[in-house]
Amino acid sequence: MHQAKGESRAKIILIGEHAVVYGQPAIALPIKSIKLQVTVTPTQDHQQKIRSTFYRGLLADAQPPFTGLTKLISRLLVFFSAESQGFTLTIESALPAERGMGSSAACAIAIIRAFYAAFDTSLDRATLLNWAAVSEKAIHGNPSGLDAATTSADRPQWFIRGEAPKAIHFPSRGVLVIADTGEMGQTGAAVGHVADLLRRDHARFQPLIESIGLASRKAAVALAQDDLAALGKQLNTAQAALSQLGVSAPALDRLIQAAAAAGALGAKLTGSGQGGCMIALAQDSTSAATIAQALQRAGAAATWQYDFSESEAIS
Ligand code: MEV
Repeated sequence: MHQAKGESRAKIILIGEHAVVYGQPAIALPIKSIKLQVTVTPTQDHQQKIRSTFYRGLLADAQPPFTGLTKLISRLLVFFSAESQGFTLTIESALPAERGMGSSAACAIAIIRAFYAAFDTSLDRATLLNWAAVSEKAIHGNPSGLDAATTSADRPQWFIRGEAPKAIHFPSRGVLVIADTGEMGQTGAAVGHVADLLRRDHARFQPLIESIGLASRKAAVALAQDDLAALGKQLNTAQAALSQLGVSAPALDRLIQAAAAAGALGAKLTGSGQGGCMIALAQDSTSAATIAQALQRAGAAATWQYDFSESEAIS
């Protein structure tokens, strides 16, 4: 083993969250400018240590939600026959945790890449995503795999659970404004809440899952036709269904309304909801600046902008 690094990115789900758990398609994009990097450095003692903003100490002492990553690291060590190897694993992340930007999946992806690089082993995409499922399952219970697929990608992704993710074309016009409510979302709780609704009243809630799936398909057509107005409409349709599924929140609704009033073509929560981030679609950078200001006035803790022209330029 030698010192090595692994990288990943934040992800934003454009459309399809929650329904993707039940086999519907989703569209998500990696955010090039918001990165996570893991460095694994071998040490002579047999201590296995983590250094990060959310946990600092021995791997064996980590508490939930970090235990999903502990499980992943332990399995990787078994795979590389290095169970007693000492190391320090440093996580440097620009992603806010539990805000719908995929921080747990991004951590897993960068850790797997770092270990494979440290043991000079080549890593294909399917193997990478299989490994990421180890920690994602431990953290979320029933992950679709969308977060891992997107935080490891360099282009926007069209994703259907159980199928290989595909790159999807984005128009060169259009800007997404991303805003953080400042409130934590809990992916496991939100996914569990939707599962409960479906168990209790399938006939009432399954059509909402299907309407989100249809909105994702129509959004893909709108992207292919460079039709931002049609895309915005689908974002609003998905938000209405997510709200009826009980995964929106007052802080998200407030920001979504503020974006609409400031001229957004569409707006919705992104990620698991019940807190976390929202997105608003702007037709150009001037409109995006107006929307970002309105979101800040409405209480956003932070805002980011993603210009669709970046989607092809990611390296
Ligand atoms: C969380 O970022 C996205 C969800 O659809 C869960 C999943 O796909 O595993 C809510």
